[in-house]
Amino acid sequence: MIEVEHVSRTYRRGQLTVPALVDVSCTIADESCTFILGPSGSGKSSLLYLLGALDTPTSGSIRVDGRDIFRFSPRERDRYRREDVGFIFQNFNLLANLNAVDNVLIPFFPMGITAQQRDVAARLLERLGLGARLDHKPNQLSGGEQQRVAIARALFKNPRLILADEPTGELDSQNSRAVLADLRRLCRDAGAAVVIVTHEQEYLEPGDHVIRIRDGRVAETSRVGDLASSTA
Ligand SMILES: Nc1ncnc2c1ncn2[C@@H]1O[C@H](COP(=O)(O)OP(=O)(O)OP(=O)(O)O)[C@@H](O)[C@H]1O
Ligand SMILES: [Mg+2]
Repeated sequence: MIEVEHVSRTYRRGQLTVPALVDVSCTIADESCTFILGPSGSGKSSLLYLLGALDTPTSGSIRVDGRDIFRFSPRERDRYRREDVGFIFQNFNLLANLNAVDNVLIPFFPMGITAQQRDVAARLLERLGLGARLDHKPNQLSGGEQQRVAIARALFKNPRLILADEPTGELDSQNSRAVLADLRRLCRDAGAAVVIVTHEQEYLEPGDHVIRIRDGRVAETSRVGDLASSTA
């Protein structure tokens, strides 16, 4: 269970301050699929970075199983990012000179890669339909294929939390559906929670949780298929 409590994040650029998130509170249940919806610039990516402890809030707390991730020691924070969270970035973050398998394994380079890890990475890519692309570099892959490499990288470590920033932004609707189905299935198998930022509401399914953000504030939280929802 993740509890976001009164989180604000103000970016400063010289004299200018941008209130990207303002007093955001919400919860993310274990093994749930949560969509963060909102217009461009509303603070979706900012919230996702905070959930992954890639950024620090100006105020407020995020508790994972009761522990505030912003009070972790630097070592605990590294471990949380490396082992508990799989991040799929808005721009994929693939390294151009590495092939698909190595791109999946990037987070583990500092510890050294074993042959078994290479095997697991290859099998994961095969499950995502990239079996014939294992040795391809990012510029030899389509946008959708690169996206799936980024997804494989996030899933590789069996994280308890997957954070995906517009994972279907580059894909046509058929590939978008396939990618979201993969994320749902793989998360269900692994018992992970998945948080997906998207503009496309058409992919919501009954049981999904929705957090709507507008101007940095939570405008609504609801569950697809529920009649009752809370509107702030
Ligand atoms: N590093 C930064 N410095 C200053 N302002 C920033 C920074 N990052 C984001 N912002 C501003 O914070 C606000 C929220 O940005 P954020 O990236 O979270 O929006 P978003 O909802 O993800 O938008 P999009 O759908 O376009 O990706 C925007 O006004 C943005 O310009
Ligand atoms: Mg964004």
